[in-house]
Amino acid sequence: MPLDAPLSRRTVLKGGAVTAAALTFGGLTSEAARAAVAETARSGVFGFGVASGDPTATELLLWTRVTPTPESLPGSRRGPAVPVRWEVAADEAFTRIVRSGNVVADVSRDHTVKVVVNRLTPYTRWFYRFTCAGETSPVGRTQTAPDEPGQTHALRMAFVSCSNWTGGYFTAYRGIAARDDLDFVLHLGDYLYEYGNAPRVAGVAGSGDRYGPNALIGVRDHEPVHEMVTLEDYRIRHALYKTDPDLQRAHQQHPWIVIFDDHEITNDAYDFGAENHERDDDPATPYTEPGKPDGIKPEGDFLFRRAKAFQAYLEWMPIREPAMWQPHASKGRQFFRRFSFGDLAELSVIDTRQNRSEQVPGTVDGALNPALTDPRRHLPEPPQLDWLTKGIRTGRTAWHLVGNQTVFARVFAVPRPGTVPGSVFNTDQWDGYQADQRAVLEAMAAAERTDPVVLTGDIHSSWANDLPRDFDGYRGDGNSVGVEFVCPSVTSNGFKEAVGSAAAATATTAAFQGANPWVRYLEGIGHGFVVLDVTPERVQADFWFIRSNGDKGLAVDPRLDPQATVGYETSFATVKGSRKVSGPTAELGPRSDSPRTV
Ligand SMILES: [Fe+2]
Repeated sequence: MPLDAPLSRRTVLKGGAVTAAALTFGGLTSEAARAAVAETARSGVFGFGVASGDPTATELLLWTRVTPTPESLPGSRRGPAVPVRWEVAADEAFTRIVRSGNVVADVSRDHTVKVVVNRLTPYTRWFYRFTCAGETSPVGRTQTAPDEPGQTHALRMAFVSCSNWTGGYFTAYRGIAARDDLDFVLHLGDYLYEYGNAPRVAGVAGSGDRYGPNALIGVRDHEPVHEMVTLEDYRIRHALYKTDPDLQRAHQQHPWIVIFDDHEITNDAYDFGAENHERDDDPATPYTEPGKPDGIKPEGDFLFRRAKAFQAYLEWMPIREPAMWQPHASKGRQFFRRFSFGDLAELSVIDTRQNRSEQVPGTVDGALNPALTDPRRHLPEPPQLDWLTKGIRTGRTAWHLVGNQTVFARVFAVPRPGTVPGSVFNTDQWDGYQADQRAVLEAMAAAERTDPVVLTGDIHSSWANDLPRDFDGYRGDGNSVGVEFVCPSVTSNGFKEAVGSAAAATATTAAFQGANPWVRYLEGIGHGFVVLDVTPERVQADFWFIRSNGDKGLAVDPRLDPQATVGYETSFATVKGSRKVSGPTAELGPRSDSPRTV
């Protein structure tokens, strides 16, 4: 995450001492700040809502969290084991229940439950609900995938990333929830953030790790108040996000396909560590963290911490339980997976965090860092890269969509005095792993049947990129082998917040386009989401931004307005066979067909 992250403790510690007095929460105690989670938990058995996910032709995953007794708070490890009944119906009134069953919720999974429902008919609307401790949940709406042999249905999704609680209201999720034309929502990561609430103090570098506008201090604070590190911390943070009514509603109205990026663990994670992880054996002293006694290094072993982050993620997110996955010494889970939509499209959802090599600087001693092109360094681990490139190369559907985290296209740094020619903007994205970037581009070039479309988050701004096989030899668009659409953040700081004004953001993004001519669209002010529509003839991305009284962020910050709305901004597309971006084009119309109701 290159845009305006809080300074890391590592930076702080190497930069000089920070007094404990600077690291206060304005009187906020951990207990007081947990009020929002406790209040939601005690508002009813199903206070954290319902969700569904990972839709296939015949299967859906259902999720909820129950609070059967007042002490059964998220992260508490308290409360009884209780039976939870689930029902799936063809109608919202539940007069035609097609599947039902019982599961047990207990402290082992923080009182969350998941059910995989099978033997459903494809491309059909379903309704679901849970019953526990004498209460019935809100009714969720969901849908099996448009995936039937020999049939080509409409395919439309919203894709999003980077929803920081302390960054603003989740208006983008409200806009998604209100739509009736989506098959699913694709979340590309940074669903939550690990940071605490301690504000930055002017003139004190790294004085706090709060991330987002100061106007929301005391209004939208993180729980727990400190950086999430332990299993309890991760569970409470997930619970906090699920108290948000707009997020709850977006889950309730659509199935989601989710994959994490770094912040679900901690900033700039790699296989055996992270920028924002202080190991027990790190020589940095003294260790100081808001809310923790000085001298204590609570972050411990990275792989232990990551395992706890994944545990809470799997408990609280509507995602299937992945198999264990051990491509090298970093034992983890196989989160990458593929969805199919008839002859129209496949969607490969990749995991570029769990086993990536550590990030390296872009330049060393005034020259390009040779490590950037070292084939021993990887973004997806080799077996996953093989799975991805083979899927693209041999794909037989009209489109091969890739659900990806960090920007895939080359993004050269904006030239300025002292810049090394050829240096890249951010080595945490594919540019930092150019051998893997090349392998995917070659697979795209070799793909005979399918046209690749990469869908990306992470960079908190809106992009439409050609993907030339050779960035240095880019010829207008003649050697483009695929396209990339990048969604803006739900709330996380974008170019405007990073450079201080809308005018400066516009100048900066224009400079990036000048240095990177394959970037056909770049907007650094708006926050929101993308609606992606797929037909045999073209794939179109509609960009939607949140607005406060019509303003996307030119004069005000719409993230601060709980009454903000969403508005259409622009569209770009790619025509089948062209392998390049076209547009801008007109806003999408209605779907060509709709899911069955039975
Ligand atoms: Fe992010």
